Amino acid sequence: MTTTDLFPELHPALALRWRELNQRLSDIRRRYPDAALASSLAAEDMVLTHALYTAGSGLEVFTLDTGRLHAETLGVLDAVRERYGREVTVCRPDAQAVERHVAEHGAYAFYESVDLRRACCQIRKVEPLKRALAGRGAWITGQRRAQSTTRGELPLEENDAVFGLHKFNPLAEWSEEEVWSVIRALGIPYNPLHDQGYPSIGCEPCTRAIRPGEDLRAGRWWWESSDSKECGLHAGNRIIPVVARVE
Ligand code: ADX
Ligand code: SF4
Repeated sequence: MTTTDLFPELHPALALRWRELNQRLSDIRRRYPDAALASSLAAEDMVLTHALYTAGSGLEVFTLDTGRLHAETLGVLDAVRERYGREVTVCRPDAQAVERHVAEHGAYAFYESVDLRRACCQIRKVEPLKRALAGRGAWITGQRRAQSTTRGELPLEENDAVFGLHKFNPLAEWSEEEVWSVIRALGIPYNPLHDQGYPSIGCEPCTRAIRPGEDLRAGRWWWESSDSKECGLHAGNRIIPVVARVE
């Protein structure tokens, strides 16, 4: 039986991509049975969730609910439950740390400086991620190389020295078009904000819609320069310097 026979909904080239992804995920499961997918509930993570939840995989999917997500993003949790009959584990920040930060700096301090923005991400995302990863051998992300300059050299797997475990980026080579073709062909549920000009979705006050022709991540922390636009979840990512060509 050919790959196309196995996945009749998909164009042959996409069917190959899909089969390769499923093989990667079962390889991860074999090597690290306690690996988990960190899902922002955005498009890439829904492709991975679909693959994990339809293959009968025991791997967990968790999301970091920062307390500042759009209602539409939280609605994806219900869509997943309805479609797959499975829950996404929701991890939340330490309530006292959030209260202290807000009492000291205000609820919108992230607009004031990169340091205050990073402090908020640290409390609402990084610390909960540390807890979610504690004791695991590996985690899985939906990052892609084409998403930003900091991800241009993203490997399919790496040692995550920051969190002290293995890290897999099984969609590293995928294009945005491939992500959306799979979502449409397989009817995967997705965040409705993607249809309203949000290719990349984070917290509500730190994400805006992009204009035609803008970079995919232009709407994330749009008031900062593009080289500071990582929130600490992927601190190992490197910016690739633009080297002038010598003829
Ligand atoms: S971020 O670092 O700028 O926020 P981005 O939104 O591009 O990251 O997402 C990249 C990957 O980081 C996602 O595919 C997912 O694996 C992980 N991620 C980002 N935000 C979250 C979140 N709120 N909960 C869980 N995982 C997340
Ligand atoms: Fe805070 Fe914005 Fe970071 Fe969300 S993205 S944790 S609101 S600074």
